[in-house]
Amino acid sequence: MAETQIQTRDETLVDPVAQRPGFEETGSRIAVAGHPIHAMTVAFPIALTFCNFGADAFYWWTGDVFWARAGVWAAGMAFLIGLAAAASGTMELLLVPGIRARASAWTHAAIAVALLSVLGANWGYRLNGYETAVLPYGILLSGFCVVMVGATGWHGGKLVFDYHLGTSNGS
Ligand code: HEM
Repeated sequence: MAETQIQTRDETLVDPVAQRPGFEETGSRIAVAGHPIHAMTVAFPIALTFCNFGADAFYWWTGDVFWARAGVWAAGMAFLIGLAAAASGTMELLLVPGIRARASAWTHAAIAVALLSVLGANWGYRLNGYETAVLPYGILLSGFCVVMVGATGWHGGKLVFDYHLGTSNGS
């Protein structure tokens, strides 16, 4: 009787998603010589978003227009390289069966698309006059972008380090 109960419990623990063909196939396919392009490109929008916030803070502190100009360039490049990073991430998500099957990969995609829309708004707002844009809304937007990029990057790191998605398959 006890044995039957244990067996029944084991049967209920079978995860149907894990039974899908290719569930264990999580190696990166969008890669150069085994090095994943998404991981290589995401560093740029992350760093540039922090630079944008830093430049806004220095503009607020010094009033030097150089920092407002540095801010608009950092914001633009964060957005544009972010789009390129998202393209490689999306291909990885759609092409690798073990990544496609995991809900957390789709969660990351949703957070990333929200981030890109805020990065785009942050850049676009500055294009109508980058110096007047910084205070107060520019720095508020770049501060919000820092929070969003931190959440997206942290979550992407979870995918790689905890779930081993997009890692080398040894080939
Ligand atoms: C729709 C857009 C995106 C999709 C579908 C996506 C998908 C993924 C996937 C599947 C991974 C696992 C590793 C891999 O397969 O390469 C990953 C990792 C990661 N993603 Fe994204 N991503 C997107 C956009 C972004 C953006 C915009 C950022 C930040 C600016 C970002 C930051 C990261 C980070 C930091 C990692 C961990 C990389 C590592 O440590 O190796 N992702 N992403």
